[in-house]
Amino acid sequence: MNGGTGSRIVLRNTLREHESPFDLSGDTRAGLSSTPKTLPSKYFYDARGSHLFEMITRLPEYYLTRAETEILERESGRLVEAVRPTVLVEFGSGAARKTRILLDAMVDRGLLEGYGPVDVSAEASRHAADTLLRDYPHIRVEGVIGDFERPRDLPFAGRPRLMAFLGSTIGNLEAEQATAFLASIRQEMTGADAFLIGFDLVKDVAMLESAYNDEAGITAKFNLNMLRVLNRDLEASFDLDAFRHRAVWNADASRIEMHLESTREQVVRISSIGLDVAFAAGEKIRTELSHKYTRQSAGGLLDAAGLTLESWCTDEADRFALALARAVD
Ligand code: SAH
Ligand code: AVI
Repeated sequence: MNGGTGSRIVLRNTLREHESPFDLSGDTRAGLSSTPKTLPSKYFYDARGSHLFEMITRLPEYYLTRAETEILERESGRLVEAVRPTVLVEFGSGAARKTRILLDAMVDRGLLEGYGPVDVSAEASRHAADTLLRDYPHIRVEGVIGDFERPRDLPFAGRPRLMAFLGSTIGNLEAEQATAFLASIRQEMTGADAFLIGFDLVKDVAMLESAYNDEAGITAKFNLNMLRVLNRDLEASFDLDAFRHRAVWNADASRIEMHLESTREQVVRISSIGLDVAFAAGEKIRTELSHKYTRQSAGGLLDAAGLTLESWCTDEADRFALALARAVD
């Protein structure tokens, strides 16, 4: 952090020596010992994975970011007017590019005092905080590098907060996880706070599948990055050429499922946890779920978490929705 911004940024790291929110060893052991094999998607986002995700957001097939940006550009003023927040707290903030649309709407109304990003990726959080402090020199950035599923001491308690969970990252959680996450944030909310959540919508299967199978192969690199993380951090011996990217629509569960498929029979050694993992040819590791919602299913999720839907806005083409929700008394 350079000297000019140092006094206005506090990036708290919720990692404690005895209580880490990340358990890569335990999660890998559990996930690769289960049937089918799984790995949690939060481990995509080291510096390289965060960069690959940013590349994904610019792909012609990946409509999600553009659709959400369209809604934010049209609705931010109205949303900020309805909530009148002085701070924005954002979960899974990443590069925080779309965030600027909301921050600008707050600046225009003389409201913006602070920004609180919450993200597992230390690199993405530090970079985002640096550039935001350069462009919004009067705000305080109080971020948390940690797992948003374990919210603790959320920034800026006591101020009117707009909580934001953009990008349809909610879709990466299983239904029970999503309910538990929203309910845990709802517990922290006062009547002055509101929650803005991005939902990717159910649509034509070809459009959905091509968003996760781009021509340039960036999503495949993003998916395979998980194995690089394991090779580096757990001294694993994954041969990246012996796994291939797969992304398919599961209509029953209303989600895209991303997998890494073993191209041959093989055993992979994960040295630091003393685990040998056998793969049959064609066997898959499920690395990500990306649930797609309807207004009705999103409303049901909010209800179950003790939140009530105040407004629902979609892009012109009805691909994506932004829901504004309040805590039910
Ligand atoms: N909000 C941005 C980035 C979305 S990518 C956008 O809409 O474009 C998902 C982000 O969530 C990444 O920055 C990743 O590091 C973060 N993330 C994923 N799982 C997380 C978790 N369990 N806790 C905190 N951050 C998480
Ligand atoms: C971050 N998240 C909402 C993205 C998604 O669309 O589920 C991650 C992603 N996976 C493949 N492409 C993008």
